Amino acid sequence: MELFLCNRKQKNFNCRIPTAAILQIIMEHLPLIPNLENHPTPYYMYDMGLLEKTLKQAAEASGRYGYHMHYAMKANHQKEILTAVNQHGLGVDCVSGYEVQAALDLGFDPSEIVFAGVGKTDAEIRLALQNDIFCFNCESVEELQVISAIAEMEKMTARVALRVNPGVDAGTHHHITTGLTENKFGIQLPHLQKALQICAENIHLHFMGLHFHIGSQITSNEPFINLVHRVNWIWDHYNINDYGPCMLNLGGGLGVDYENPLLNPMPDFAAFFAMISSNLNIPDHISIHFEPGRSLVAQCGSLITRVLYVKEGLHKQFIIADAGMTEIMRPALYGARHRIDNLSRSTGQVKTYDVVGPACESSDVFASDLRLSSTHRGDLLAIRSCGAYVQSMTLNYNLRPAAEPVFYYPSFNRLKSLFEGIPEPFMQKAV
Ligand code: LLP
Repeated sequence: MELFLCNRKQKNFNCRIPTAAILQIIMEHLPLIPNLENHPTPYYMYDMGLLEKTLKQAAEASGRYGYHMHYAMKANHQKEILTAVNQHGLGVDCVSGYEVQAALDLGFDPSEIVFAGVGKTDAEIRLALQNDIFCFNCESVEELQVISAIAEMEKMTARVALRVNPGVDAGTHHHITTGLTENKFGIQLPHLQKALQICAENIHLHFMGLHFHIGSQITSNEPFINLVHRVNWIWDHYNINDYGPCMLNLGGGLGVDYENPLLNPMPDFAAFFAMISSNLNIPDHISIHFEPGRSLVAQCGSLITRVLYVKEGLHKQFIIADAGMTEIMRPALYGARHRIDNLSRSTGQVKTYDVVGPACESSDVFASDLRLSSTHRGDLLAIRSCGAYVQSMTLNYNLRPAAEPVFYYPSFNRLKSLFEGIPEPFMQKAV
């Protein structure tokens, strides 16, 4: 029996190394990169080439209509990802002061930063104000009053957009839908008039326009068309033009293909923006903004995990991997399903497995009744579509340390890993 202890920064690793062929499949067509062979599992692998292509396509498609994008950095806040986003000229959408600070530290222009969230603290508001960010997306009448009071203390004017709950069904998982009535997000329509009035009467608030976000992982046109029609109506009905707006923010939500990520590595951005443009009916001088998160980064990431055991149940076989809900909580939290590939054996007999993690929770399950080539202890699995809401949502439950990211830059044939900085004795050795 071969032994391997793959859990990250432990000493004296004795880990079976991935073969050249396995590496080839991990990143598809990538040349062999020696450093990667030694990487302890589990780890996040980011294909920065795919990220570049995705950002380029999204920027070109939105640029055709003069639309602005603020990447929702909650999806993934890795420095390398944010740097690529910045290089493609996108701004950022932040939901905490920490995210605002991270964006500033990485050199995002404050005029490209929007700050949303139902629970902004006074300190976070002050930080954003002092750095003169583009806009606060305000979620309640009380928040408007607090922002105004802080702006007065700072002798400043705060630019604000009102996040309105439009009552549109995103038709997605109930935990990631936000645009329905009576949700904690956004200002309810019956309160919009009052919020507009507060903006109009308050010299420390500069009303910028309206903000909407109805939910995430939306894979059909219908919810977006309904949203845009609702926006047209709200704009008209509430006489938004009378308040001197200059922008409209339609949020994020565009979904990705979790079933066939390798065949569909990015959404059809051109079709998405064309659909918005042909349905939106507000004055031409209003600048249109979006906050895509998942659609930009989901498909560039895979979580690479090693099989620890293949356990025979009474009726099932369980693959027990060394990654769990601590590294990817989407399956446990939303019942999300990600494509899983056995990188060590892509051919051969196919069997049916439940794929589970090691955490002490019965919901730590990635897949049930998954058809996979016959799998054995030591095999490497790739859990796909892990670029969004995976590494940014890790837990250290069971005292598990954070898994490391690895970034592959095909254009430089360069692999960048936090692993590079780990002192020699802690590095896993290939044997
Ligand atoms: N704007 C606002 C105001 C948001 O709340 C969100 C996401 C976005 C933009 C970006 O949405 P996207 O384009 O990524 O769909 N953890 C969940 C997703 C939570 C989304 C939260 N809000 C998941 O793993 O599916």
